Amino acid sequence: MSFRKDFLWGGATAANQSEGGYNEDGRGVANVDVVPIGEDRYPIITGQMKHLDFDDHHFYPAKEAIDMYHNYKEDIALFAEMGFKSYRFSIAWTRIFPNGDESEPNEAGLKFYDNLIDECLKYGIEPVVTITHFDMPIHLIKEYGGWRNRKVVDFYGNLVTALFNHYKGKVKYWITFNEINMILHAPFMGAGLVFEEGENAEQVKYTAAHHELVASALATKIAHEVDPENMVGCMVAAGQYYPNTPNPTDVRQAQLDNQENYFFIDVQSRGEYPNYALARLKHEGIEIPFEEGDKELLKEHTVDYITFSYYSSRVSAAQKDQEKTGGNIFDSIKNPYLEESEWGWQIDPLGFRITMNELYDRYQKPLFVVENGLGAVDTPDENGYVADDYRIDYLQQHIEAMKDAVEKDGVDVLGYTPWGCIDIVSASTGEMKKRYGFIYVDRDNEGNGSMKRSKKKSFDWYKQVIASNGEDLDFTKE
Ligand code: BG6
Repeated sequence: MSFRKDFLWGGATAANQSEGGYNEDGRGVANVDVVPIGEDRYPIITGQMKHLDFDDHHFYPAKEAIDMYHNYKEDIALFAEMGFKSYRFSIAWTRIFPNGDESEPNEAGLKFYDNLIDECLKYGIEPVVTITHFDMPIHLIKEYGGWRNRKVVDFYGNLVTALFNHYKGKVKYWITFNEINMILHAPFMGAGLVFEEGENAEQVKYTAAHHELVASALATKIAHEVDPENMVGCMVAAGQYYPNTPNPTDVRQAQLDNQENYFFIDVQSRGEYPNYALARLKHEGIEIPFEEGDKELLKEHTVDYITFSYYSSRVSAAQKDQEKTGGNIFDSIKNPYLEESEWGWQIDPLGFRITMNELYDRYQKPLFVVENGLGAVDTPDENGYVADDYRIDYLQQHIEAMKDAVEKDGVDVLGYTPWGCIDIVSASTGEMKKRYGFIYVDRDNEGNGSMKRSKKKSFDWYKQVIASNGEDLDFTKE
């Protein structure tokens, strides 16, 4: 067994991190627009600090991002040159429904994605569309409180109905929510949640989670009704938790941490709340706001495939006062056996294989790796060329691990779209300096730069990987 003949090699981006054009053609303001770079970013994305409007003393990188709104043709041509078979991007909800609660979609917004999708199809690139990648209209947060409000399920229903009908026959692969488990870690970014003084944050998060899970099942139902060819996937920020030691208390903690992550896909893929979650939430006094018909909806409309991001494995310990890894929104103990990126994300290709095995074994549905990669500082020469051996090294090891999972473990994988195939704004830090791309973009953290695109060394390397369907991963180190 090797990679499928039609394996979907490609790359991935998200609207708010790449498009810019934040106020063009009727687009409304989104939660992710008002998240600045700098020290306030973390308290804002985690919902601890209320910040729902632009002000003069912060810099907001999503406003212009890398201006893909105006450069998508040039960017997709470069993807095509690398031989992409797929491109994962997200729809900005605020382009389609600027406030979120309108009854009719914004035609100009639909048109933008028509153009973008047509450009992909022109090169035989399969669009893989994330319906919401951390974004929602700010109006839905100000007026309704974000995903804590059940009404948002209906607004999301309107969004997906418009998308499935409009792009019928052009888009087959859909993903309902990017990294749905991010609600627990970055609830403003993940679900538009801002916590009031004294409120039970866990209750609010699981209420919002329930609404997203119901919305995801509703989307799956509508997608299949509109076009039975549609494939709908869930998406989780994956990465196996290892126990810090064989001490059963550490093993148990790792089991709990893994369950916390799997909980979302357990519902989306198996169609019901797992017992461990029902018991734990009950024990903690958290109520799940089930409404009539929810259980049936969840049961009858499970996802067709499982997508996930993988950057790193994680480590759990019962005893909490241990050294943590830096820079990651997820809490993890440092793993002494692993090297780490400049942002403290630990590098574990074998963990990728382990994670794929866990996911496939648990759900028995095809997997799609929709994010993986190394965020690093690049230093271009005067022509914008970057000799990014470190990035090739990371990707090579991870593709090897994926190959092992496919060939030696029998895991069924549909495709691989490494993250930030062109440099984009970092979600956790708002930096441009943290780059993942095969294509360099001349733009810095403060918004300076020409936005010019140039090929890195990894560009030709990835082209060779795709041309050989993952067989030729070699490169010459400089
Ligand atoms: C995932 C997100 O969490 O990781 C992306 O889906 C994000 O939006 C990516 O950009 C990498 O994280 P960061 O913080 O390095 O941009």
